[in-house]
Amino acid sequence: MSATIIDGKAYAAGLRARIATQVEPFKAAAGRAPGLAVVLVGEDAASSVYVRSKGRATREAGMESFEHRLSADIDQATLMALVAALNADPAVDGILVQLPLPAHLDAQAVIQAIDPDKDVDGFHPVNAGRLATGLPGFVPCTPLGCLMLLRDVHGTLAGLDAVVVGRSNIVGKPMAQLLLQESCTVTIAHSRTRDLPAKVRAADIVVAAVGIPKLIEGGWIKPGATVIDVGINRTETGLVGDVDFEGARAVAGAITPVPGGVGPMTIAVLLRNTLVSAGRRMG
Ligand code: GUN
Repeated sequence: MSATIIDGKAYAAGLRARIATQVEPFKAAAGRAPGLAVVLVGEDAASSVYVRSKGRATREAGMESFEHRLSADIDQATLMALVAALNADPAVDGILVQLPLPAHLDAQAVIQAIDPDKDVDGFHPVNAGRLATGLPGFVPCTPLGCLMLLRDVHGTLAGLDAVVVGRSNIVGKPMAQLLLQESCTVTIAHSRTRDLPAKVRAADIVVAAVGIPKLIEGGWIKPGATVIDVGINRTETGLVGDVDFEGARAVAGAITPVPGGVGPMTIAVLLRNTLVSAGRRMG
Protein backbone atom coordinates (compact mmCIF):
# COMPACT_ATOMS: atom_id res chain seq x y z
CA MET A 1 0.00 0.00 0.00
CA SER A 2 1.20 3.47 -0.86
CA ALA A 3 1.22 6.28 1.70
CA THR A 4 -1.32 9.08 1.86
CA ILE A 5 0.32 12.21 0.46
CA ILE A 6 -0.02 15.07 2.97
CA ASP A 7 -1.08 18.11 0.94
CA GLY A 8 0.63 20.95 2.80
CA LYS A 9 -0.12 23.34 -0.02
CA ALA A 10 -3.88 22.81 0.35
CA TYR A 11 -3.70 22.91 4.17
CA ALA A 12 -1.71 26.16 4.02
CA ALA A 13 -4.19 27.70 1.57
CA GLY A 14 -7.02 26.86 3.98
CA LEU A 15 -5.12 28.34 6.91
CA ARG A 16 -4.39 31.52 4.97
CA ALA A 17 -8.06 31.85 4.04
CA ARG A 18 -9.09 31.43 7.71
CA ILE A 19 -6.56 34.08 8.73
CA ALA A 20 -7.87 36.49 6.09
CA THR A 21 -11.40 36.17 7.50
CA GLN A 22 -10.06 37.11 10.97
CA VAL A 23 -8.16 40.13 9.68
CA GLU A 24 -11.37 41.97 8.80
CA PRO A 25 -12.84 42.02 12.34
CA PHE A 26 -9.38 42.99 13.69
CA LYS A 27 -9.26 45.97 11.33
CA ALA A 28 -12.77 47.05 12.30
CA ALA A 29 -11.91 46.89 16.02
CA ALA A 30 -8.36 48.30 15.89
CA GLY A 31 -8.76 50.80 13.06
CA ARG A 32 -5.66 49.43 11.35
CA ALA A 33 -4.40 46.26 9.70
CA PRO A 34 -1.98 43.84 11.40
CA GLY A 35 1.53 44.76 10.22
CA LEU A 36 4.54 42.57 9.43
CA ALA A 37 7.99 44.10 8.87
CA VAL A 38 10.47 41.99 6.88
CA VAL A 39 14.14 42.98 6.77
CA LEU A 40 16.38 41.66 4.00
CA VAL A 41 20.11 42.42 4.01
CA GLY A 42 21.90 41.88 0.71
CA GLU A 43 20.87 40.23 -2.53
CA ASP A 44 20.90 36.48 -1.76
CA ALA A 45 18.70 35.01 -4.52
CA ALA A 46 16.82 32.45 -2.40
CA SER A 47 16.24 35.00 0.39
CA SER A 48 14.91 37.56 -2.11
CA VAL A 49 12.38 35.02 -3.38
CA TYR A 50 11.28 34.16 0.18
CA VAL A 51 10.93 37.83 1.12
CA ARG A 52 8.90 38.60 -2.01
CA SER A 53 6.51 35.72 -1.34
CA LYS A 54 6.17 36.69 2.33
CA GLY A 55 5.21 40.24 1.28
CA ARG A 56 2.69 38.99 -1.27
CA ALA A 57 1.09 36.53 1.17
CA THR A 58 0.89 39.25 3.85
CA ARG A 59 -0.96 41.62 1.53
CA GLU A 60 -3.23 38.83 0.25
CA ALA A 61 -4.29 38.15 3.84
CA GLY A 62 -5.28 41.82 4.17
CA MET A 63 -2.31 42.72 6.37
CA GLU A 64 0.23 45.50 5.97
CA SER A 65 3.69 44.50 4.72
CA PHE A 66 6.66 46.73 5.53
CA GLU A 67 9.71 45.66 3.53
CA HIS A 68 13.18 46.94 4.36
CA ARG A 69 15.86 46.01 1.83
CA LEU A 70 19.33 46.97 2.99
CA SER A 71 22.60 46.76 1.14
CA ALA A 72 24.92 43.82 1.89
CA ASP A 73 27.60 46.09 3.40
CA ILE A 74 25.38 47.74 6.02
CA ASP A 75 26.98 47.88 9.50
CA GLN A 76 25.68 46.25 12.67
CA ALA A 77 24.73 49.56 14.34
CA THR A 78 22.50 50.60 11.42
CA LEU A 79 20.71 47.25 11.44
CA MET A 80 20.27 47.40 15.23
CA ALA A 81 18.84 50.94 14.89
CA LEU A 82 16.30 49.71 12.33
CA VAL A 83 15.23 46.89 14.67
CA ALA A 84 14.86 49.40 17.52
CA ALA A 85 12.68 51.63 15.32
CA LEU A 86 10.48 48.66 14.34
CA ASN A 87 10.20 47.63 18.01
CA ALA A 88 8.87 51.12 18.78
CA ASP A 89 6.53 51.38 15.76
CA PRO A 90 2.89 50.77 16.83
CA ALA A 91 1.94 49.79 13.25
CA VAL A 92 4.35 46.83 13.38
CA ASP A 93 3.10 43.64 15.08
CA GLY A 94 5.72 41.28 13.72
CA ILE A 95 9.41 41.67 12.85
CA LEU A 96 11.28 39.14 10.72
CA VAL A 97 14.93 39.56 9.83
CA GLN A 98 15.60 37.18 6.96
CA LEU A 99 18.47 34.76 7.64
CA PRO A 100 21.21 34.09 6.83
CA LEU A 101 22.78 37.53 7.30
CA PRO A 102 26.09 38.44 5.63
CA ALA A 103 29.02 37.03 7.62
CA HIS A 104 30.21 40.39 9.02
CA LEU A 105 26.93 40.83 10.91
CA ASP A 106 26.13 39.22 14.28
CA ALA A 107 22.81 37.46 13.66
CA GLN A 108 22.37 36.40 17.32
CA ALA A 109 22.69 40.01 18.47
CA VAL A 110 20.09 41.10 15.93
CA ILE A 111 17.65 38.35 16.98
CA GLN A 112 18.12 39.30 20.63
CA ALA A 113 17.42 42.96 19.82
CA ILE A 114 13.93 42.13 18.49
CA ASP A 115 11.12 42.69 21.01
CA PRO A 116 10.18 39.09 21.99
CA ASP A 117 6.52 40.08 21.71
CA LYS A 118 7.04 41.03 18.04
CA ASP A 119 9.30 38.04 17.31
CA VAL A 120 6.90 36.21 14.97
CA ASP A 121 9.76 33.94 13.84
CA GLY A 122 10.05 32.65 17.43
CA PHE A 123 13.86 32.82 17.29
CA HIS A 124 14.45 35.05 20.34
CA PRO A 125 15.87 33.14 23.35
CA VAL A 126 12.94 34.39 25.42
CA ASN A 127 10.53 32.63 23.04
CA ALA A 128 12.71 29.50 22.97
CA GLY A 129 12.55 29.52 26.78
CA ARG A 130 8.80 30.08 26.79
CA LEU A 131 8.37 27.09 24.45
CA ALA A 132 10.62 24.91 26.62
CA THR A 133 8.66 25.80 29.76
CA GLY A 134 5.16 25.71 28.26
CA LEU A 135 4.50 29.46 28.48
CA PRO A 136 2.65 31.35 25.73
CA GLY A 137 5.00 32.94 23.20
CA PHE A 138 5.88 32.62 19.55
CA VAL A 139 6.82 29.22 18.12
CA PRO A 140 9.06 29.05 15.02
CA CYS A 141 6.86 28.83 11.92
CA THR A 142 8.21 25.69 10.25
CA PRO A 143 7.95 23.31 13.22
CA LEU A 144 4.54 24.71 14.17
CA GLY A 145 3.42 24.07 10.58
CA CYS A 146 4.71 20.48 10.84
CA LEU A 147 2.76 20.00 14.07
CA MET A 148 -0.45 21.24 12.43
CA LEU A 149 -0.01 18.67 9.63
CA LEU A 150 0.70 15.90 12.16
CA ARG A 151 -2.40 16.78 14.18
CA ASP A 152 -4.42 16.75 10.96
CA VAL A 153 -3.21 13.22 10.19
CA HIS A 154 -3.35 11.71 13.69
CA GLY A 155 -5.70 13.74 15.86
CA THR A 156 -3.92 13.10 19.16
CA LEU A 157 -0.20 12.34 19.12
CA ALA A 158 -0.01 11.21 22.76
CA GLY A 159 2.18 8.18 23.37
CA LEU A 160 3.59 8.00 19.84
CA ASP A 161 7.32 7.50 19.31
CA ALA A 162 8.78 10.42 17.34
CA VAL A 163 12.25 10.93 15.94
CA VAL A 164 13.41 14.39 14.91
CA VAL A 165 16.44 14.17 12.64
CA GLY A 166 18.28 17.51 13.00
CA ARG A 167 18.94 19.75 16.00
CA SER A 168 18.84 23.31 14.65
CA ASN A 169 17.41 26.15 16.73
CA ILE A 170 15.01 26.95 13.88
CA VAL A 171 13.48 23.49 13.30
CA GLY A 172 14.90 20.47 15.16
CA LYS A 173 14.93 21.74 18.75
CA PRO A 174 11.55 23.53 18.69
CA MET A 175 10.01 20.56 16.81
CA ALA A 176 11.18 18.23 19.58
CA GLN A 177 9.72 20.58 22.22
CA LEU A 178 6.36 20.69 20.44
CA LEU A 179 6.20 16.89 20.12
CA LEU A 180 7.10 16.53 23.79
CA GLN A 181 4.28 18.93 24.66
CA GLU A 182 1.97 16.63 22.67
CA SER A 183 3.11 13.74 24.91
CA CYS A 184 5.17 11.96 22.26
CA THR A 185 8.28 10.05 23.29
CA VAL A 186 10.90 12.07 21.46
CA THR A 187 14.33 11.15 20.14
CA ILE A 188 16.52 13.89 18.67
CA ALA A 189 18.99 12.46 16.17
CA HIS A 190 21.88 14.33 14.56
CA SER A 191 25.18 13.93 12.74
CA ARG A 192 26.80 12.05 15.66
CA THR A 193 23.86 9.69 16.26
CA ARG A 194 24.81 6.01 16.23
CA ASP A 195 22.71 3.72 14.04
CA LEU A 196 20.33 6.31 12.64
CA PRO A 197 18.38 3.66 10.65
CA ALA A 198 17.46 1.89 13.89
CA LYS A 199 16.30 5.15 15.50
CA VAL A 200 14.13 5.94 12.47
CA ARG A 201 12.78 2.37 12.27
CA ALA A 202 11.47 2.63 15.84
CA ALA A 203 9.46 5.81 15.17
CA ASP A 204 5.76 6.31 14.46
CA ILE A 205 6.58 9.91 13.44
CA VAL A 206 9.70 10.92 11.53
CA VAL A 207 10.54 14.61 11.10
CA ALA A 208 13.54 15.10 8.83
CA ALA A 209 15.31 18.48 9.06
CA VAL A 210 19.00 17.93 8.36
CA GLY A 211 19.52 19.38 4.87
CA ILE A 212 21.06 16.24 3.37
CA PRO A 213 19.32 15.13 0.16
CA LYS A 214 17.56 11.74 0.48
CA LEU A 215 19.48 10.85 3.66
CA ILE A 216 16.57 8.83 5.02
CA GLU A 217 15.90 5.70 3.03
CA GLY A 218 12.59 3.95 2.47
CA GLY A 219 13.90 0.78 4.11
CA TRP A 220 14.43 2.69 7.38
CA ILE A 221 10.77 3.66 7.75
CA LYS A 222 8.46 1.72 10.08
CA PRO A 223 5.46 0.48 8.08
CA GLY A 224 2.55 2.90 8.51
CA ALA A 225 4.67 5.71 10.04
CA THR A 226 4.06 9.38 9.28
CA VAL A 227 6.97 11.11 7.56
CA ILE A 228 7.38 14.91 7.60
CA ASP A 229 10.16 16.09 5.30
CA VAL A 230 11.40 19.62 6.08
CA GLY A 231 14.37 19.37 3.70
CA ILE A 232 14.56 21.68 0.69
CA ASN A 233 17.74 20.71 -1.13
CA ARG A 234 18.54 22.15 -4.53
CA THR A 235 20.20 19.43 -6.61
CA GLU A 236 20.93 18.96 -10.30
CA THR A 237 17.68 17.01 -10.60
CA GLY A 238 15.63 19.76 -8.89
CA LEU A 239 14.31 20.20 -5.34
CA VAL A 240 14.58 17.12 -3.15
CA GLY A 241 13.87 16.52 0.51
CA ASP A 242 15.89 14.82 3.24
CA VAL A 243 13.85 11.65 2.65
CA ASP A 244 13.93 9.34 -0.37
CA PHE A 245 10.30 10.08 -1.25
CA GLU A 246 9.66 7.19 -3.64
CA GLY A 247 11.21 4.65 -1.30
CA ALA A 248 9.44 6.01 1.78
CA ARG A 249 5.97 6.40 0.26
CA ALA A 250 5.87 2.64 -0.42
CA VAL A 251 6.19 1.94 3.33
CA ALA A 252 4.86 4.98 5.23
CA GLY A 253 1.24 5.59 6.21
CA ALA A 254 1.46 9.28 5.29
CA ILE A 255 4.21 11.48 3.89
CA THR A 256 4.78 15.11 2.88
CA PRO A 257 6.08 15.74 -0.66
CA VAL A 258 8.87 18.18 -1.53
CA PRO A 259 7.83 20.67 -2.81
CA GLY A 260 4.21 21.16 -1.70
CA GLY A 261 4.45 19.68 1.80
CA VAL A 262 5.99 21.61 4.69
CA GLY A 263 7.24 24.60 2.61
CA PRO A 264 3.88 26.36 2.10
CA MET A 265 3.07 25.95 5.80
CA THR A 266 5.92 28.23 6.92
CA ILE A 267 4.47 31.41 5.40
CA ALA A 268 0.92 30.53 6.48
CA VAL A 269 2.09 30.13 10.11
CA LEU A 270 4.05 33.40 9.86
CA LEU A 271 0.77 35.16 9.00
CA ARG A 272 -0.93 33.34 11.86
CA ASN A 273 1.76 34.46 14.31
CA THR A 274 1.45 38.04 13.06
CA LEU A 275 -2.32 38.03 13.55
CA VAL A 276 -1.91 36.53 17.04
CA SER A 277 0.65 39.25 17.86
CA ALA A 278 -1.72 41.98 16.65
CA GLY A 279 -4.53 40.54 18.77
CA ARG A 280 -2.33 40.39 21.89
CA ARG A 281 -1.18 43.96 21.34
CA MET A 282 -4.78 45.17 21.20
CA GLY A 283 -5.37 43.49 24.57
N1 GUN B 1 15.59 31.90 6.36
C1 GUN B 1 15.06 30.71 5.96
N2 GUN B 1 13.91 30.47 6.62
C2 GUN B 1 13.72 31.51 7.45
C3 GUN B 1 12.69 31.83 8.39
O1 GUN B 1 11.72 31.11 8.60
N3 GUN B 1 12.84 33.01 9.03
C4 GUN B 1 13.90 33.82 8.81
N4 GUN B 1 13.97 34.96 9.51
N5 GUN B 1 14.87 33.56 7.97
C5 GUN B 1 14.77 32.40 7.29
